[in-house]
Amino acid sequence: MRVHVTDAECDGQYTLAGGRAVESSPEEEPVTFANCYEDGTRADAYATLEFKNTYHLAFRDIPAILAEHVRGRKAVDFGCGTGRSTRFLRQLGFEVTGVDIAEDMIRKARELDPSGDYRLVPGDDLSALPAGTCDLVLAAFTFDNIAGGDIKLRILRDLARLLNWDGKLVLIVSRPEIYTHEWASFSTKNFPENQAAKSGDKVRIIVTDHADPRPVEDILWTDEAYREVFQEAHLGLQQKYEPLGREDEPYRWVSEVEIAPWAVYVLEGA
Ligand SMILES: C[S@@+](CC[C@H](N)C(=O)[O-])C[C@H]1O[C@@H](n2cnc3c(N)ncnc32)[C@H](O)[C@@H]1O
Repeated sequence: MRVHVTDAECDGQYTLAGGRAVESSPEEEPVTFANCYEDGTRADAYATLEFKNTYHLAFRDIPAILAEHVRGRKAVDFGCGTGRSTRFLRQLGFEVTGVDIAEDMIRKARELDPSGDYRLVPGDDLSALPAGTCDLVLAAFTFDNIAGGDIKLRILRDLARLLNWDGKLVLIVSRPEIYTHEWASFSTKNFPENQAAKSGDKVRIIVTDHADPRPVEDILWTDEAYREVFQEAHLGLQQKYEPLGREDEPYRWVSEVEIAPWAVYVLEGA
């Protein structure tokens, strides 16, 4: 695996999501955004991430949350990446289809989990997945990489169509504070411009748990903005969780005990 890659090199390698510029609604400034996961080096590094440090807080409470809200075992993992979240669901007994827009990530997911079901969905086209059949659609960190309210809305509607009458959509997303603090798994101190970012703006963050030092470019999206787009998509917010680190956990917490890095939204169709 290649590990010595510079920031400048990374910028040069970014490709536009789905090969096109992603634009937000007409009254907003258009945001041109590249999915930085369409990259073999990133995929190799991302595949080494597990559930430790700050990521522990994203997954720690998910078994209990799913046990409380989800009946049935048929799931789609939207933005499965290299399959970490898909394998997590499989271990909980879910029958999961992992889908992703990035070929390099899907290739790694299949390599790591040859018996899993991983599918490439070019251009976010989810029409090949059967409607009305899922007990659960999980999107773990995927919405951090989706630019603009219009695209978020379209994708939320598409995901809602996959749910059965009692199905739940669970989103694990980055809270805005993740981009302005230091963490066990992330650093943002080189990006002071994140402090002024508003909902919909690009922000940068470095994952310190893996070997790729290049920043990940995400889209900041506030809780208020998420609630608006959920309403527009006719998704009911059942519950929101903001897991905090605990002093007795075996990790060197930095900000995690005081500030929650992630939000978990549990949504149901109308
Ligand atoms: C931060 S990774 C998370 C991967 C995985 N869920 C995990 O927990 O490790 C986000 C993934 O979402 C994918 N993604 C971004 N936009 C997408 C879209 N519109 N449709 C499908 N996947 C998308 C990216 O390619 C990337 O693999």
